[in-house]
Amino acid sequence: MLIQTTLFTASLLSMVTTTPITREAKTECTVEELPAYLSKCQLKVPSSPSHLTLGVGTQNYTCVGVGTYGYLGANVVLLDTSCTPEDEQDTLTEDTWAAYVQDGNVDFNAVHADERNVGDYHFETDLPLFTIGDQSMYAIVSQQAKSTDKANFNEWELKAMAGTKTDLATEVYQVSTKGGIAPSSCNVDTDGGLVLAVPFVATYAFSS
Ligand SMILES: *[C@@H]1O[C@H](CO)[C@@H](O)[C@H](O)[C@H]1NC(C)=O
Repeated sequence: MLIQTTLFTASLLSMVTTTPITREAKTECTVEELPAYLSKCQLKVPSSPSHLTLGVGTQNYTCVGVGTYGYLGANVVLLDTSCTPEDEQDTLTEDTWAAYVQDGNVDFNAVHADERNVGDYHFETDLPLFTIGDQSMYAIVSQQAKSTDKANFNEWELKAMAGTKTDLATEVYQVSTKGGIAPSSCNVDTDGGLVLAVPFVATYAFSS
């Protein structure tokens, strides 16, 4: 009895200590057909991506020169959306925004705790680094398209950068974005040197 209790406690403990940091190395469902909302994109997203995710985070800027914002990079949590039911796909971006962006700020604690959290995307020494599970990809921009909606951030196709760790995918598309745009002007005297973190939600589709 004592042994059983001890074993049970030990396995409970290991669950408690490992669960929060364990991330699935793969997204869960196989995407055989792109969700309809992605058909409106300017860039042609591959029809069966290896990972389909929604990024929630910030695009970062700082006030430079004559009073415009310069780009610093992004800080993003990737949520697996490969299993999202069809009838929820069209409102996925809006619903995720409503759940995690309040008063102009991203609730990163809540996003990290989302059960769909499979990875992240941030900048390392000025390069975009995407990670899902234990696989990563340093990327460079290969194509850019204007979003059809002016309020949205542009669409991007990024390719894996040769000579770096690229076991995640060979390309990633950032499309169907809400937010992430900096104001058109700023005041160097008051804003200079500060990081402006602008919330955004976007779809990231990976393929090889
Ligand atoms: C961007 O801003 C976030 C806060 O949202 C911060 O955690 C992150 O380090 C910043 N990254 C860069 C590249 O400025």
